[in-house]
Amino acid sequence: MEGIKFDFNNMFSANVGGVNGVEEKDLFELSSAAQKAHEHLKKILADSKNRIKLNLEWAALPYQDEKAVKRIQDLGKEIAAKYDSVISLGIGGSYLGLKAAQDALMPAYFNEFSKIRKNRPRIYFEGNNLDPDTLSVLLKNLNPKKTFIVVISKSGETTETKAAFMVVQNWLKKAVGKKYGRQVIAITDPENGSLRKIVKLEQEKDILSFRSLPLSKGVGGRFSELNMGLLHLAILGVNIQEVLAGAKDMALKCSRANYTENPAYMYAALHYILYKHKNKSLAIMMPFSETLKSTADWYVQLLAESLGKKYNRKVEISADGSEAWLQDRGAVVNVGRTPVPCRGTGDLHSVQQNNVEGENNKVITFIKVEKFKNEIKVLAKGDFLSGKSFSGLITLAEEATEWALVRQGRPNCTVTLECVSPYIWGALLFFFEMATAFEGELLNVNAFDQPGVEGYKNYMYYKLGKPGISREIANEIEGYPLIKNPKYIL
Ligand code: PA5
Repeated sequence: MEGIKFDFNNMFSANVGGVNGVEEKDLFELSSAAQKAHEHLKKILADSKNRIKLNLEWAALPYQDEKAVKRIQDLGKEIAAKYDSVISLGIGGSYLGLKAAQDALMPAYFNEFSKIRKNRPRIYFEGNNLDPDTLSVLLKNLNPKKTFIVVISKSGETTETKAAFMVVQNWLKKAVGKKYGRQVIAITDPENGSLRKIVKLEQEKDILSFRSLPLSKGVGGRFSELNMGLLHLAILGVNIQEVLAGAKDMALKCSRANYTENPAYMYAALHYILYKHKNKSLAIMMPFSETLKSTADWYVQLLAESLGKKYNRKVEISADGSEAWLQDRGAVVNVGRTPVPCRGTGDLHSVQQNNVEGENNKVITFIKVEKFKNEIKVLAKGDFLSGKSFSGLITLAEEATEWALVRQGRPNCTVTLECVSPYIWGALLFFFEMATAFEGELLNVNAFDQPGVEGYKNYMYYKLGKPGISREIANEIEGYPLIKNPKYIL
């Protein structure tokens, strides 16, 4: 595919020195593990039963039914034509991909200026925090009769989204009356969860309310932008087929068995080597673009939740070839690189000092854009900046950052995008998803669960008196209370 390249020159010892870089022989030594990882992924991806059961159905999302996609595109158009504003409620994988898409694919300041929105609604994201300040200001200032609500929660149980939705539901009902549910779409599990329960109840009262969208089975939140995020793309007027086409072409490129020809595998393999053998445990994601900053935030969730794991994976294979991935409780491994979102050039005046001179424990990924949507030139005369274009300056800044890092033996790599189009952005997402899946194989962890997120949730549920908390969880919380010794509080 055209339009996206992965440059990994600066990951090698030839550029950053033997202590900090990968040697060709390190790559060679990984080849049998890489082959095994590929074979395993290939086997799972080829079998829809395993794909769904193990949460790898995201890999099939680029091949979605065109008619179903068209229906979503039309629905988005209908909502966009009727409403001034949309509130999109969701958190984690039900939010970050949407925000990333909006920032990357829409003109900057999309919400601020009607001319650039071209009669489409302003889109506000809520339900991704419990900070009362943002939602209350929003609801005080929006007209409920002109606002559409999209509530996204795969489980239908997440506290942040659920609490925000209950408030928004009340706000809407009060202003719109009985038929308020016609201004709501819920994207949630087709059977389970309290959001699904609300949908069923509301539809019994008014069949046209709380329309629902198909949610693919076996797609975890952070891998779900091409599923849960589609209506949002449609409301924005993004051509969904182009996003899927980019992902599809990238999927093909990332299906190559030989990892030295497969960009996603290579990305994973190099990071794995640097993490395991050169102590590089921090992953700095630094797009040189303001509008890709939230794509870096999306990546942070992808990496952190997928690969930050306490236990290795134990694979059990049944006679029919179906697999179960269990936690290997035999030993605590606590693996996973720590992601840090950054953006060039802003963070060259902050994190960059540490990247260049701080602990040499990180690998920086740059995302470079060749052609921006707009161009500005410095017109004033008599200065070394005179006549220079902003795109030229940001490109030079990226090159300069690479140079500064290489000079200090700091490994880094660059993903170059010809431009930020729906096609290329779709490809970028799929590239990182496949790289993460492959790294999960190399690390032998389950990249598609997130048991570590349950701890805080269970604690909150217990304290809030949510019904159904198991005795085991209650015992753990009661047995290990937080200790706040006043001696240690000043
Ligand atoms: O990747 C994941 O599965 C999670 O981060 C979820 O996206 C997040 O917890 C939100 O869950 P839900 O969509 O069920 O509200």
